[in-house]
Amino acid sequence: MPEPLTSPLGRLRLGVNIDHVATVRNARGGAYPDPARAALMAEVAGADGITAHLREDRRHITDRDIEALMECLNVPLNFEMAATDEMQVIALRHTPHAVCIVPEKREERTTEGGLDVAREENKLAHFIAPLRDAGCRVSIFIAADKRQIEAAARIGAPVVELHTGAYCDAHAEGRSSDRTAEFERLREMSVFAHSLGLEVHAGHGLTYDCVKPIANFPEVMELNIGHFLIGEAIFVGLGPAMAKMRTLMDEARA
Ligand code: PXP
Repeated sequence: MPEPLTSPLGRLRLGVNIDHVATVRNARGGAYPDPARAALMAEVAGADGITAHLREDRRHITDRDIEALMECLNVPLNFEMAATDEMQVIALRHTPHAVCIVPEKREERTTEGGLDVAREENKLAHFIAPLRDAGCRVSIFIAADKRQIEAAARIGAPVVELHTGAYCDAHAEGRSSDRTAEFERLREMSVFAHSLGLEVHAGHGLTYDCVKPIANFPEVMELNIGHFLIGEAIFVGLGPAMAKMRTLMDEARA
């Protein structure tokens, strides 16, 4: 019998991204549904962490949401943000457990690609230093690309989150050769990032249908999942949606 596939570093964590609870709230400009309430429900349902992305345009999560999450959560908050001075000030004010640096374009619907760390190495090294000094675990959201991973390691980021969007899109659209290529890239780059001593996370676009192959990578320590879980919660509730995702993750790992 082959050895059970367990992470060299521990159990696979599920981070729940609650941005799109705020998207629904903001559609009417009122107070409901409340992302902090969703975050607490996710915590009760077994989330290992909560992720929230404070965008420059505040299209979903707001400054007040971050304050509320910092006040109410018992699990770690993973604060997603662009590498801007404004966001750095906010992160340093709250010092969340983790800070995930993502690229951001105003016109995009969602985070389209990974951060070009290789191009902005110096700037990012200076940018993350105070966050690290303040005790935040800095993660860099990047494509599964060797150059980017090497650059992330050089700037001293302890964590990389690999962008699974292209793999998930190819899966959903039935482009099987692209799906295989993206999968292989993610698999090889998880191993590579881990070999450099980086903690490896993955996320973007993950659903019940495509989560298992990624959850199966022993180097991956954490998956961050939002849009699909919040959408599924409309039909079955957040707890059951998370429970099913957790089961699939555990099956993939077992
Ligand atoms: N990880 C990062 C860095 C992201 O930017 C996002 C989307 O905000 C996610 C994970 C979650 O992606 P999704 O909402 O598609 O599950």
